[in-house]
Amino acid sequence: MRAALPGALLLLTSLLLTGCEEAEMGPAATAPAVPHSGISFPDGWRFSADDEPVRAERGAVSTTDYYASRVGLDILEQGGTAMDAAIAVSFALAVVNPSAGNIGGGGFMVTRTADGETSALDYREMAPLAAHRDMYLDEEGELTDASVLGHLAAGVPGTVMGMWRAHERYGTLPWEALVQPAIDLAEGFEVRERLARSLRGSEESLRIYDTTREIFLPGDAPPEVGDTFRQPDLARTLTRIRDDGPDGFYRGETADYIVAEMERGGGIITHEDLERYDALWRDPVTFSYRGYTVTSMPPSSSGGPTMALMAHILEDYDLTGMGWQSEEMIHVMAEAWKRAYSDRNQVLADTDFVDVPLEEMVSREYAQRRGADIDMDRATPSEQIGPGLEVGEPTETTHYSIVDEAGNAVAVTTTINSGYGSKVTVAGAGFLLNNEMDDFAAKPGFPNQFGLVQGEQNAIEPGKRMLSAMSPTVVTNPDGELFFVTGTPGGSTIITTVFQTIVNVVDFGMSVSEAVNAPRVHHQHLPDQLYWENGGLRSEVVEGLEARGHTLQQRGGTSGDVQAIMVLSDGSLAAHSDPRLGGTALGY
Ligand code: DON
Repeated sequence: MRAALPGALLLLTSLLLTGCEEAEMGPAATAPAVPHSGISFPDGWRFSADDEPVRAERGAVSTTDYYASRVGLDILEQGGTAMDAAIAVSFALAVVNPSAGNIGGGGFMVTRTADGETSALDYREMAPLAAHRDMYLDEEGELTDASVLGHLAAGVPGTVMGMWRAHERYGTLPWEALVQPAIDLAEGFEVRERLARSLRGSEESLRIYDTTREIFLPGDAPPEVGDTFRQPDLARTLTRIRDDGPDGFYRGETADYIVAEMERGGGIITHEDLERYDALWRDPVTFSYRGYTVTSMPPSSSGGPTMALMAHILEDYDLTGMGWQSEEMIHVMAEAWKRAYSDRNQVLADTDFVDVPLEEMVSREYAQRRGADIDMDRATPSEQIGPGLEVGEPTETTHYSIVDEAGNAVAVTTTINSGYGSKVTVAGAGFLLNNEMDDFAAKPGFPNQFGLVQGEQNAIEPGKRMLSAMSPTVVTNPDGELFFVTGTPGGSTIITTVFQTIVNVVDFGMSVSEAVNAPRVHHQHLPDQLYWENGGLRSEVVEGLEARGHTLQQRGGTSGDVQAIMVLSDGSLAAHSDPRLGGTALGY
């Protein structure tokens, strides 16, 4: 029963990401300090406003994992483009960051080439053909936990096809060279603190399925720092992908393993599902915010349109004048977010299946109407905020950002949804399957694991993509030049986290490290709660917001794991990996 996995609890447990590892400084670490905004963080906040980002003259990579960043940097140093590096990093993360990096999941990529062409690649998982609207309800019509745990939770994986389509369009190095580093890692790498901590933290759930336990708890215990971690089945699967491209995954031996795993565990993904899967190039959502141009993901992600609506509402307010993290600023942001998430949750969904008023949602005119009833003195209760748009019919993920010497930028967010996905490893193939089906409205009007209350538009249909919040984003400055590449995991908080990094750099002139390290707040319409990171708000601001009618909810840990790169005014790069999870930014 769903009751065993209460949404709010899962939201918090999956987002309470703690600990940090030293970020590694690139060779350009001795470059002059980047300009900081001079804004100070609240006294109780655990990350510094004074961190220096990694400096680079030619190219930079920021990912959640040291090995993955090294793979990306090696590809750049060999003369590969940001896209080549992005493909290699994706496969590397599938090996070294199994809680979220994947070949059994999906994701989104937003890219801007040096000549200004932008594109968005949707390699989101799809509902299997045998999926149906009520597949996660029991006889009483109550939600079960099958959308979160086990074989039935998995959507048809998209990552391998996504990387292949990206390679076809933009790749310059041979495919084999991009997959090989991951194979080498799968044959064995030395465990570092980040992975050891992650596996330790998930030990209980990694025991549920034997195939998962045998790989991730070798010798029946999580590997320790310094151990060599080997994944021979995964190395063989990656070798088939290296040699046969997408056929090495969607057909032949790997596909046979996936289908056999489904039959063993009561899942429904078939050979037909795998063979018909494709990744799709879509028109990115592009909007302007105070003269900067933001390019982000369209549906099947909600990230781009939701951020566009927030940005357009907030452009009418002088956030800079209000002061960073002032009561006024947080109040008006929360009011804008509630309205934007209400639309997101009720209206957005896979545009290949349902009509979505996308143009209206990203238009300035609509934002003006939508924001018109914001009261600066009082929070509007969420129950009084219905969706403003009409439609025809009634915490594990990972992000990485890469910029190369030519100025090509790639932002990728990829996931198997919860940490270690459905917890099911495909026997013989050595990779975990996603539990992305939970991103659908399994029972419209009822919360999913992130507490998101979504509507009919996002109900399950065969072949449909479940609505995502993932928001890989590229920002250009008022002169049209590449300025900022950003993104994060964090389930429903992804959109507000990415949005706050943009506000931090655009409205408050923060450096990349300040913008990433700064404490964050979050509101998603329902539940009607304004979340804040422990130590991240001054007590007088908390009291002031409560007096305006907000219900504040403190998060014990931290949320998000932003990987960001900024282009400085002299054209050099500053990269910073979020200390919340302890990733690594590298440059050269
Ligand atoms: O696509 C989405 O919006 C979710 N599946 C993302 C999940 C996530 O970020 C979990 N990580 N902390």
